[in-house]
Amino acid sequence: MNKRVKIFDTTLRDGEQTPGVNLNIKEKIMIAKQLEELNVDVIEAGFPRASKADFEAVKAIAQEIRKPEIAALCRAVKEDIDCAWKALEDAENPRIHTFIATSDIHMKHKLHMTKEEVIKRAVEMVTYAKGYCNNIEFSAEDAYRSDPDFLCELFTKVIKAGAVVLNIPDTVGYALPMDYGKFIKYIIENTEGIENVEVSVHCHDDLGMAVANSLAGIMSGASQVECAINGLGERAGNASLEEIVMTLKTRKNYLNMDTDINTKQIYRTSKLVSSLCGIDIPPNKAVVGKNAFAHESGIHQHGVLQEKSTYEIITPESVGINNHSNIVLGKHSGRHAFDSYLKDIGIVLNKEELDEAFEKFKRVTDKKKQITSKDIEAIVNSKKYFTETYKLKSFQVNSGNNMICTSAIEIRQGDKSLTEVAIGDGSIDSAFKAVERTIGMNINLKDYSIRSVTDGKDALGEVTVKIKDNDKILVGKSISQDIMEASINAYINAINKMIDDKH
Ligand code: KIV
Ligand code: ZN
Repeated sequence: MNKRVKIFDTTLRDGEQTPGVNLNIKEKIMIAKQLEELNVDVIEAGFPRASKADFEAVKAIAQEIRKPEIAALCRAVKEDIDCAWKALEDAENPRIHTFIATSDIHMKHKLHMTKEEVIKRAVEMVTYAKGYCNNIEFSAEDAYRSDPDFLCELFTKVIKAGAVVLNIPDTVGYALPMDYGKFIKYIIENTEGIENVEVSVHCHDDLGMAVANSLAGIMSGASQVECAINGLGERAGNASLEEIVMTLKTRKNYLNMDTDINTKQIYRTSKLVSSLCGIDIPPNKAVVGKNAFAHESGIHQHGVLQEKSTYEIITPESVGINNHSNIVLGKHSGRHAFDSYLKDIGIVLNKEELDEAFEKFKRVTDKKKQITSKDIEAIVNSKKYFTETYKLKSFQVNSGNNMICTSAIEIRQGDKSLTEVAIGDGSIDSAFKAVERTIGMNINLKDYSIRSVTDGKDALGEVTVKIKDNDKILVGKSISQDIMEASINAYINAINKMIDDKH
């Protein structure tokens, strides 16, 4: 019988600590719903004491998501634990996740605490958290660089205080797989009572070892792995959920382990997270990258045509990539056909989302004859999770190589119509300046990128714009066959998000 490994997803907590990522509450709920479809065991929804927005997001997720356990992170500090519980109290399966650093470097330079003080605090805070619920996870931050015997003593005591999950992170991504495996084994063999609790691994990717280290950890006896979609996370990120899950599935017979993940939802989840976070998936990324199933060389193509298993160890279908490029939806496709096509490619929408996506789909079919699964994905992922304070009504851009570019923009704000013109260095610059003049704001543009959703001259263009407001990055996206329209809408979307974020 295979050992079942628990998947603890931290996309919404450690993943959201990725530089430049700032999700609003609606986006976090969307991701949490998709993680529920993926069937993860635990969703770490955030760090409630970090900000009011984090608190509200954890609370909303705890109220809405029923199947997975919902975890909230907190330092080993009473006020943090109180706040985490307030956010979690409506959850069906709440988990308080409390942590304190245990390495000499962290205790000396960050906490200014002795080993004895750290043990005392950890025990007191686990006991305190236990007053709220039974499900307490305790993490020893920077565990891998900590004295192993000190860790065993600390863990023995927090188990006695009531912790039911012990997490042993490689916080700075310093470990090598064999050593991390040995480290986990040592802790398991030398901690009293550890056989009655769950042992968890949490590895960062600073040296590109996060997935390998996590696997070494579970091969040495850990039964929970903490990971994030697309490997998002602090600095170089966390272990990638999709890589861990697909390794366990593909090498099930060798490892004798598996998870409960619905792997057919992997691709959809990866796309949604990438789109909402504004972080592209590298083409060569394992499992979910654009090239993960592309065979370029003639020898490989020939082999795959004869027999897929020559060069394919996992099928695209097993992660939810359905190559429907030959099945086409178009102008005459109705709502029903659209809905069943979505279901076919693993996208589940509620009625309101379906209505909105169908309306967009119809608009796209006015101009584009054949719509493929990639277009549909882009249409669904362009859903707006914010209030549209400003809406583009019309625009006109004049550009050329020997002239000054000018743009005229008309924007609606409620029932008011606002119009302005501007000149700029190129069409995008003039259009963005015209938007700023129209709404009377100066915007700090940090990034602009465009990609075509599919091949062909009539492909949809997807524009991503990032703007900066104080220390926050806001991402705006839009798709259209007209790249100027997509650019202006993406800019306005980012501005709307910024306004929404302030409320
Ligand atoms: O990397 C780490 O140590 C963490 C802990 C807070 C679990 O994210
Ligand atoms: Zn971490």
